[in-house]
Amino acid sequence: MTDPIYKTDALIADDIEAYLDQHQHKTMLRFITCGSVDDGKSTLIGRLLYDSKMIFEDQLAALENDSKRVGTQGQEIDFALLVDGLAAEREQGITIDVAYRFFSTEKRKFIVADCPGHEQYTRNMVTGASTADLAVILIDARKGVLVQTRRHSYLCHLLGIRNIVLAVNKMDLIDYDQARYDAIVAEYETFAKGIGIESFTAMPISGFKGDNITANSPNTRWYEGAPLVQHLEAVEINAAHDAEKPFRMPVQWVNRPNLDFRGFSGLVASGTVRAGDSIRVLPSGHTSTVKSVVAYGGDLDMAQAGQSVTICLEDEIDCSRGNVIAVADAPPEVSDQFEATIVWMDEEALLPGRGYWMKLASQTVSATVAEPKYEININNVGGPGDHLAAKTLELNSIGVAEVTTDRPVVFEPYADNRALGGFILIDKITNRTVGAGMLHFSLRRAQNVHWQATSIDRDEHANLKNQKPKVLWFTGLSGSGKSTIANEVELALNAMNRHTFLLDGDNIRHGLNKDLGFTDADRIENIRRIGEVAKLMADAGLIVLTAFISPFRAERQMVRDMLPEGEFVEIFVDTPLEVAEARDVKGLYKKAREGKLKNFTGIDSPYEPPERPDITVNTVEMTPSEAAQYIVSKIAPLK
Ligand code: ADX
Repeated sequence: MTDPIYKTDALIADDIEAYLDQHQHKTMLRFITCGSVDDGKSTLIGRLLYDSKMIFEDQLAALENDSKRVGTQGQEIDFALLVDGLAAEREQGITIDVAYRFFSTEKRKFIVADCPGHEQYTRNMVTGASTADLAVILIDARKGVLVQTRRHSYLCHLLGIRNIVLAVNKMDLIDYDQARYDAIVAEYETFAKGIGIESFTAMPISGFKGDNITANSPNTRWYEGAPLVQHLEAVEINAAHDAEKPFRMPVQWVNRPNLDFRGFSGLVASGTVRAGDSIRVLPSGHTSTVKSVVAYGGDLDMAQAGQSVTICLEDEIDCSRGNVIAVADAPPEVSDQFEATIVWMDEEALLPGRGYWMKLASQTVSATVAEPKYEININNVGGPGDHLAAKTLELNSIGVAEVTTDRPVVFEPYADNRALGGFILIDKITNRTVGAGMLHFSLRRAQNVHWQATSIDRDEHANLKNQKPKVLWFTGLSGSGKSTIANEVELALNAMNRHTFLLDGDNIRHGLNKDLGFTDADRIENIRRIGEVAKLMADAGLIVLTAFISPFRAERQMVRDMLPEGEFVEIFVDTPLEVAEARDVKGLYKKAREGKLKNFTGIDSPYEPPERPDITVNTVEMTPSEAAQYIVSKIAPLK
């Protein structure tokens, strides 16, 4: 599966490893810088890299030359040239353009994610912020708090960054004016409180001149706080904070090199673990005791949040990839319905009701998102009207919606645990990462509805009817001949003493689905309900025939996945648009062409033909009864 977030991380993983080797003893802080180039972001990062002496000598020489050539800034080095140059190199090959840079000081090592600032880069920022311990929000002292400052701050807060630095930059250009600085900080404070940011650290800096970067500046004697680098060296990192929470480790893989060893490998998401600890495996709930905690190089006395380890248990209990090993007496929750905040990252808008792959920690499940409760007006968070009504989420928009998964997942609210509360959504057909989300809580109704076991099961229903259940799913354009052929097939099956039922688009839309229209979202819901009904009827032992346009591959696949292997038979009624339109039995094509009927399939609404239908019938060469005979011959035996 290719999804950009993981691809980006994979790309840097090797670098990180090499880097870690060099600086084993130091803790690492991941941070993100928010602001546009105009705010002096590149200059600031360049300055940090330069001052920490992590720039390679040859790059430095080139930089000094370039700066002289450009000559805009007198004798001083233009640090922005350095960073922008690196960015151009790195951009190639990185799907989501977040440039990660490494540097180090005596006390700590750092990874900085430099994300572009504009609104169209919201998704990039989400990628960078989702793993950051700290965010530096840059403000141009001449401009003060801007719309983008609010947007960046909101996103950082949303993504759970606990340490926020408000860096009021370009202080040199306002003559280190304390009153102006105080006014900016006061304005930001009011805004920050309004959106729930409890604390932040403000500092007056100049990335260009170097004020308050590595040392306190004589130009701002009124500033009593630490310079930026000192602050970055001292702030508590997430791993340290997470180590104090209850133990959780999502299992990445089961490590079984030989019959004598069976361990569960993963990254400790929170808490600490030692041999002898009582644990519980979720979602199954089985308990055991930790026999040993193994890492590269041997057994460990203890492992904590942020470490990759292999855990061996005293008992042979079921545990596989996607499960979560947790402390026995305070396990995380398990649910299949949630409320979540979702950031949409794809050009194609969210389709409520569509099944997407959801990746949460090491779990991959199928999930649907309901129509959003509201969209967040990210340029006006904390202000009036910051909730907008929305039917979907477009690229870079953020909304709150209910999410349903096809099986229970182990989770924690994102605010408590990023690793078990953050997820991405992947389009099942294109494999693109289309959204990122943060779980709020499980919906109570999910906990109060349980599956009721019944005594007569589907086999018994089918045996009594002396047949194998099937769902004959006809798909094709309006006027392709689905209903006519399905009707003929039902007649033939009836003559063979088969128990059948035909669900037809126009008929169902008069009853069960009379609240649905022809938008993409309504068509998805139409097929979801038909799928559920067809499944119930198949459980009752019937051979079900359905005649719906069902224009989307994803939903036809969804129904296939709902049924036992081999029971879903996709029948493509392959009639070209010109032929269906020429027939125009109901006069709807004419209306659509005249613009009197919107969203008409084949005209201004898409039809995705099946890629591998089980049966195809060509209605130009075959009559409906020939097509029906052909289908009946293909689906036999029916017992
Ligand atoms: S589906 O796309 O959601 O599967 P369905 O099969 O239920 O559609 O309904 C299609 C029938 O509704 C068509 O055969 C046609 O008679 C009627 N209809 C009315 N408006 C539209 C439209 N905009 N697009 C397609 N069919 C429409």
